[in-house]
Amino acid sequence: MDTVITTNSEQETETLGQTVGELLFPGAVLLLDGNLGAGKTAFARGVARGLGVTKPVQSPTFTILYAHSGRLAFYHFDLYRLEDEQELLDIGIDEYLDDEGVSLVEWAGKFPTFFTMPSMYITIVRGQGEDVREIKFSAGEERYRQLLTELLARS
Ligand SMILES: Nc1ncnc2c1ncn2[C@@H]1O[C@H](COP(=O)(O)OP(=O)(O)OP(=O)(O)O)[C@@H](O)[C@H]1O
Ligand SMILES: [Mg+2]
Repeated sequence: MDTVITTNSEQETETLGQTVGELLFPGAVLLLDGNLGAGKTAFARGVARGLGVTKPVQSPTFTILYAHSGRLAFYHFDLYRLEDEQELLDIGIDEYLDDEGVSLVEWAGKFPTFFTMPSMYITIVRGQGEDVREIKFSAGEERYRQLLTELLARS
């Protein structure tokens, strides 16, 4: 099941992320893809807010992972600086992905064969106009399809 939602500002992307955050379930995995400056971190900030995270969300580009606590734990990854799958294993990503918290992974598309667990795949591309973004959601497994159906009902 695929859906594209268009946003026209950073704020709209955050709000969309927030709605997703409100709908997330324990153990959910969100895989984000999109070029530099697409809006992945903006979306992640919204997800954090929707999960009830109160501390500010920064981009984990240099740290690879920031962990936050909200209604559920929130594990925010940025794989931009990683080169191979062994580095993913070295940071213990498997344990976070298997955890009851929510994992959100920026630059997941760098490792196309690694993320085989059930997940929501989210690709952000620029649209026509400086502030336009097309956010494509792909859901395979049932819980993620339900989440997407609920998201469409709310947006
Ligand atoms: N509709 C929009 N949604 C999100 N961001 C937007 C939108 N329109 C403009 N922007 C701008 O695009 C930039 C998005 O930056 P952000 O850090 O979220 O991107 P990113 O995909 O995480 O980049 P990186 O790959 O460097 O981590 C911000 O400067 C934001 O103001
Ligand atoms: Mg980012």
